[in-house]
Amino acid sequence: MRRKSIDDLINVSQDKPKTLGLFDLTIMGIGAIIGTGILVLTGIVAATDAGPGVVFSFLIAALASALIGLCYSELTTTIPSSGSAYVYSWITMGEQIAFFSGWTLLGVYITTTATVATGWTGYVTSFLKEVNIFLPQSLVQSPFNGGIVNLPAVIVVLLITLLLTRGMSESKVVNDVLVLVKIGIILLFVVVGAFHVRTTNWKPFLPFGVKGIFTGASTVFFSFLGFDALATSAEDCKKVQKNLPIAIIASLTISTILYIIVSLVMTGDVKYNLLNVPEAMSFVLITLKHPIVAEIVSFGAILGILAVILAFIYASSNIAMSMSRGGFLPARFSKLNSKTQTPNEALWIIGIITATCSGLLDIKKLATFANVGSLCIFFLISVAVLLLRKQHPELKRAFKVPFGSVIPTLSALVCILLLFNLPGSAWLNYIGWLAIGLILYFAYSKSHVIY
Ligand code: ALA
Repeated sequence: MRRKSIDDLINVSQDKPKTLGLFDLTIMGIGAIIGTGILVLTGIVAATDAGPGVVFSFLIAALASALIGLCYSELTTTIPSSGSAYVYSWITMGEQIAFFSGWTLLGVYITTTATVATGWTGYVTSFLKEVNIFLPQSLVQSPFNGGIVNLPAVIVVLLITLLLTRGMSESKVVNDVLVLVKIGIILLFVVVGAFHVRTTNWKPFLPFGVKGIFTGASTVFFSFLGFDALATSAEDCKKVQKNLPIAIIASLTISTILYIIVSLVMTGDVKYNLLNVPEAMSFVLITLKHPIVAEIVSFGAILGILAVILAFIYASSNIAMSMSRGGFLPARFSKLNSKTQTPNEALWIIGIITATCSGLLDIKKLATFANVGSLCIFFLISVAVLLLRKQHPELKRAFKVPFGSVIPTLSALVCILLLFNLPGSAWLNYIGWLAIGLILYFAYSKSHVIY
């Protein structure tokens, strides 16, 4: 249960060149947040869980994310380190919880990327179908879904890993373009769709009652994952104490506004019970007789989703790098390439594991694992805010969550509430991941940890 001294961590944080400003960070946050969630889940949740009330599911999930985002902001500005939750828990709760936080973060970021890459294949195959190109089912589905391997997902993950090994500035330019395309197609959908909204489609607004809203909220929570990944960029940020909290809150706010408008337009254009399709945006546009706009939106989605994959592989490599600096993982994972200043060994091992998961595992299992792991981390983050205030009241906090301990406590409670709404199979998978971590901890990390 030995705790790490803050000074050790702040000193190593000075090494890397600072390349990310407020604009880059906000774009990166939006890049990580907006993706498969809004593009794939909205229609399905509206049709099966919440009806047009999916807008309330988004609001609840947004509120939960905002509470957690505020807690993250206080911690990132007090301890600017790329290790994120792993580092905060080492300082406040001790070595073992730190190891398991880092291990969970790795699992969460790998499975989130794999979920997103699998959703991406869905958009690619349906786009290609429209232009009469048919990919063999065995090469676009995992063995759990009747195929052999999801090859497009494997290829895209490896290509993005390659891009990240080329250096931060190149990745940043590509990312900025991808995010702008993504926002562009969402706005295009909203503008075209707004002219076709019929208020009769919103009746009844809550066909599945209030319970449906909450079930929907647990699922659409996935759409907000990504704001936390931003915290792992702390060591690449210029003026981290000012820029990082603003970027977290700004990217969450912009995403929430877009999600709310999209879900209102979508359920206003087409009756909710018809929306049970993975590519709901293009489906709605085709129903409204705008096939060309539908193709543009699908193509933009294919590009835009790449930004999510990029942000999450980057985040996982940062966690692996930090854990390696702490001695929990071999030292080679924190070695920066002399030319690009990127942790290439960490990037490749993460990229290869993620590509394997994307190719071979089931999307629903991956997504629910990501939700369980993230919520456990968010719970720890909320508790860490309270502990750090007690243990280190003297630290300078450039941003402090207002209203004393109310918000961190609420945030912890919301995480528990959402955790209870997730399926038992996700818990089992998570316990399995922790068991592998336990073996690694006792076989390697415990004897190599550095103080
Ligand atoms: N929030 C990200 C998405 O929806 C993970 O794709």
